[in-house]
Amino acid sequence: MLILKNHDLTEYNTFHVRAKAAYFVKVEDKQELPELISFSKQKNKPIFIIGEGSNVLFTKDLDIIVAKLEFNGQRTKNESENEILVNVDAGKKWDDFVRWTVENDLYGVVNMSYIPGTVGAAPVQNIGAYGVEVGQNVHEVNFFDTENNKFSSLSAEQCDFGYRNSIFKTKLRNKAIITDVVFKLSKQKKFNLNYKDLKPLEKSPNLSLKLLRLYIGKIRFHKLPSPTVIGNAGSFFKNPIITKTQAQSLLNKWPQMPHFTLGENVKIPAGWLIDNLGLKGFRMGQAAVYEHNALVLVNLGNATGAEIVKLANFIQQKVYETYKIRLEPEVNIL
Ligand code: EPU
Repeated sequence: MLILKNHDLTEYNTFHVRAKAAYFVKVEDKQELPELISFSKQKNKPIFIIGEGSNVLFTKDLDIIVAKLEFNGQRTKNESENEILVNVDAGKKWDDFVRWTVENDLYGVVNMSYIPGTVGAAPVQNIGAYGVEVGQNVHEVNFFDTENNKFSSLSAEQCDFGYRNSIFKTKLRNKAIITDVVFKLSKQKKFNLNYKDLKPLEKSPNLSLKLLRLYIGKIRFHKLPSPTVIGNAGSFFKNPIITKTQAQSLLNKWPQMPHFTLGENVKIPAGWLIDNLGLKGFRMGQAAVYEHNALVLVNLGNATGAEIVKLANFIQQKVYETYKIRLEPEVNIL
């Protein structure tokens, strides 16, 4: 375990905002986690596990311990004729794992190609893209239970996966450090092309995992700016879920509003709500709404976290005034 004091986090968040952590700890092996917990008790400071920093916004210097899990191995756990269970360490980059599945003809996670972040962070907010969520491919999540100081595990069902949500954001919030995830992948050819943007591929006779990954990359790179070029954390807000009655009254006013039925409720793209207010490209100091996607907030250069939050609050207020919908951040604001 490597402990650094007063450590700068600019390189550890994809918004590239400046902030310091009282302690920054690099954990090289999961067996060091009990030591990390004792350190936190000794210093009387909470722990925040950081992956690639692709879903956080730091608004100030943090009097906490930021810990990065550096173990990133991978093992096949079980294999049958049609299916394979792969155990992947929390510190592995999510997209390195997805690329590996594509290279090995394994089906299940390809729609989530190029999502930044780590494997350990994926189940926490149940990452998803192009019609597939990680929860659908999880077999089991292994974690360190920080309350009881022991390693533990949950089946996919016990993780309570929902839209950008899981037990790790609710009951086990700040009580579990995910150490590794067991994924179930299929050896049988099966693609999920239900998402609107992927429909054109249904007619493609030679569709392969490689081709689908390439196609998804093309769509993503236009809508989601690369954090190495322009600081951002992907979708800043969650897509709100509202009642059918409320959706109908909004549709009376804006018949073109995209909407997706979810049982008794309706999911509305937050990007559309913001775009419809004419806010694409809107700037507030060095923070801005991305010009190609209103759901993404960007750091134009030297924005502070506080400046980005100010822009986010302004957007939330405008959205509420116009549609009576409260947008919730998708990004963790610290
Ligand atoms: N839209 C607009 N204007 C905009 C942005 C979007 O009109 O500026 C409309 C689009 O035309 C489309 C609808 O909104 O009709 C939905 O847009 P899109 O398909 O691009 O997806 P999204 O709802 O903006 C969600 C996820 C993304 C994920 C994509 C693709 C959330 C909060 N975001 O975005 O996830 O990549 O679907 O599946 O659920 C992330 O979580 O960080 C993320 C990038």
